[in-house]
Amino acid sequence: MAKALCPGSFDPPTNGHVDVIERGARYFDQVVVAVIANPSKRPMFTLEERESMLADALAHVDNVDIQSFDGLLVDFARERGVSLIIKGLRAVSDFEYELQMAQMNAALSPGLDTFFVNAKPAWAFLSSSLVKEVARYGGSTEGLVPPGVSKALEEHAGR
Ligand code: PNS
Repeated sequence: MAKALCPGSFDPPTNGHVDVIERGARYFDQVVVAVIANPSKRPMFTLEERESMLADALAHVDNVDIQSFDGLLVDFARERGVSLIIKGLRAVSDFEYELQMAQMNAALSPGLDTFFVNAKPAWAFLSSSLVKEVARYGGSTEGLVPPGVSKALEEHAGR
């Protein structure tokens, strides 16, 4: 069974994340979405909220499994028997850090490869940080994030 791992903070998931996961799911038998429990930046949403938002947004994709992890991604990948990571790239600015992480992961776990998927142009400007900022200042995030996420952002902003 061909498996791939799609890791991230997903704080919150955006349409860009959903697109990359959906596209990954077309090429692999199973895509494990790995939600980091304790990201380095303090998250706006709890782990349970981030998992539940992803589950709602990806309910239409049968071969996606949403899991959480803590610690090193390479250890989680090994435990789950996955040797391929999928990451989305929006712009050249993403590439430097993503390449560094891919190479560190491969150094820690030889044989663990990372495949990069280019973001759809429609979502290339999106980031979790930006949608949080838009929502915080009263802007609409409709059409940028899954509907449940938009609602959660509004509630978080007290609207
Ligand atoms: O959504 P993000 O913030 O781009 O996700 C980054 C993530 C969670 C994939 C990355 O920080 C990660 O893998 N963290 C786990 C700790 C780890 O393995 N660090 C070494 C990576 S080179």
